[in-house]
Amino acid sequence: MRKKIVAGNWKMNTTITEGINLAKEIMSSSINLDSNVKVLLFPPFTHLSKIIELTNKNNIFTGAQNCANKVKGAFTGEISPLMLSDMNANYVIIGHSERRAYYNETNDILLEKIKLALENNITPIYCIGENLDQRESNNHFNIVKEQLEKGVFSLNKNDFSKIIIAYEPVWAIGTGVTASPEQAQEIHAYIRNLIVERYNNDISNKTSILYGGSCNPTNAKELFANKDIDGGLIGGAALKADDFIKIINSF
Ligand code: PGA
Repeated sequence: MRKKIVAGNWKMNTTITEGINLAKEIMSSSINLDSNVKVLLFPPFTHLSKIIELTNKNNIFTGAQNCANKVKGAFTGEISPLMLSDMNANYVIIGHSERRAYYNETNDILLEKIKLALENNITPIYCIGENLDQRESNNHFNIVKEQLEKGVFSLNKNDFSKIIIAYEPVWAIGTGVTASPEQAQEIHAYIRNLIVERYNNDISNKTSILYGGSCNPTNAKELFANKDIDGGLIGGAALKADDFIKIINSF
């Protein structure tokens, strides 16, 4: 059975003190985690070591929101996947639409990051998803296909089987507009089918595909009930312990 995952992307929010308090609230809450459910926290880089000390137990782990596409060298301001694995940040979000849009990260760069993350034993969550124009022109299937083909489908079976996919329609991120459960399930099933075509049934069945985009305590249950939706990548609602815990408990 594939893993169910609820991941909280804190983005560029919280001071260290606020972040530690948020992590403590989550750790001390009465979350009822089934052994098949994992919770992942993605705080800013500056908080990682402190929050890793609090987590990385009871199926709750901490990872990074990004990493460099290089391992070391003269790349001022960058954080290497080697540095992340060295501090036990064993997950990384790659290709979030904000990184694609504001920092010009292309599918090629993202593939480099994914390969280096895997070489350093870090599990990438690879984000894909169309913007509003692409959805309205009915081009969303093509966009997602291209992001998969250029971003991860060149990986061999063994490497691909280690990654997590997050489908995040850009028009739903931070907007309060959520994809309907039907819209989300439709494209998740499409993604799963592309994985069957590129790899095989077994790998496809084992790949966790998360939904992201205005997921909240009110809509999580209905979204997660779909057979190809294996959890969520949560932004805004991950910053409030109560909301995040309710989303986790939606399973
Ligand atoms: P949101 O963000 O939940 O605030 O829409 C999701 C994301 O960006 O991963």
